[in-house]
Amino acid sequence: MTDWSSLVVLPAPEHDPFDIGGVAEIKQRLGLDEVVKLHWNENLFGPLPGVLEAAREELEHAWMYPEETYRAFRDEVAAFLGTTPGRVFPGHGTQALIGALATTFLRPGDRVVVPQLTYYLYGTACAARGAVVHEAPTRELRIDVEALLDTVRRTRAKIVWLCDPNNPTGDMLEPGEWAYLLDQLPGSCVAVVDEAYVDFVALEARLPRLAAVEEGRPVVVLRSFSKFFGLAGLRLGYTIADAALTDRLALVEEPYNVNCAALAAGRACLRAGDAAEERRREVAEARELLAAGLRDAGAEPLPAAANFVLARIGVDDRMLADELARQGLLVRPGSDVGLPGYVRITVGPVPLMRRVVAAFTDARSALEG
Ligand SMILES: Cc1ncc(COP(=O)(O)O)c(C=O)c1O
Repeated sequence: MTDWSSLVVLPAPEHDPFDIGGVAEIKQRLGLDEVVKLHWNENLFGPLPGVLEAAREELEHAWMYPEETYRAFRDEVAAFLGTTPGRVFPGHGTQALIGALATTFLRPGDRVVVPQLTYYLYGTACAARGAVVHEAPTRELRIDVEALLDTVRRTRAKIVWLCDPNNPTGDMLEPGEWAYLLDQLPGSCVAVVDEAYVDFVALEARLPRLAAVEEGRPVVVLRSFSKFFGLAGLRLGYTIADAALTDRLALVEEPYNVNCAALAAGRACLRAGDAAEERRREVAEARELLAAGLRDAGAEPLPAAANFVLARIGVDDRMLADELARQGLLVRPGSDVGLPGYVRITVGPVPLMRRVVAAFTDARSALEG
């Protein structure tokens, strides 16, 4: 028998890596046929009109490598953003691009900085490339720009990772905080800003990140089609970055690693116009209803800009999540993301949010005893 442990440079995973959401295990354990996934921030509203049709039509070209669809995607995203195609580079999900960026910038021993409370993958992807990951403390569950900068200077970090709106908290940096970070960031450190959830934010409330890229600042922006656009299963994201960096990213990623159906679906999302605006309103309305219901039930929801709400619940988060799971509602216990005593709940359509609030209210009062 081959001893894989002596050959592979990574330790064996502790959990089944193909069931990280735990859905199969939960269904089996609780004897449930169906569960509602409110624990992964997927889009419970579904894709925008016309998007799946565009993906289906593109299947006709599945015999070809996606050279033309890559070009068309980059052109169309650039026109949508108001920039040049050279600054746009797709990947099969933001996750793939996080890995590509880590490979592009890091040698073993290089330092990177991540906020203490943020999406786990930045640290994991950098550590897998041999980098040393330093956590910067957050303050009252918010990213603390001063602490990030201090840690960058102290460790002479090469990358600082930011998630805005942040996961798992759901809040955003203030314009002044972003401007200060940009102003103070050493030229030897790249700010990678993951905007996976930014499409939920009203256009006028977004921060001018493209301008920073176009001014030649050391900034890379990541966008995803998994969240607002509801295409998590097709795997599609892109970077907005200086063209000179984009060319190097293209050397790191496998050639044409995004498929033609995903690229066509992504382009259709960008043409959705009013439907996207309407969707933003629907999500905001359902999010307000969820937050108000949680508050009425005795929890303390945080201000939320994305498609999830994080709330301090005043009872044991794993017990509460288990109780909701018994009713087929999967929510994320805060203990999973370093926040015991909190839960994170994905926003879905209003009738579903009413069901969640009712189940949460009962479960919380039962646990409060
Ligand atoms: C902050 C953040 N970035 C990226 C991702 C993954 O994005 P994608 O599906 O585009 O790989 C997630 C998924 O939960 C996320 O929360």
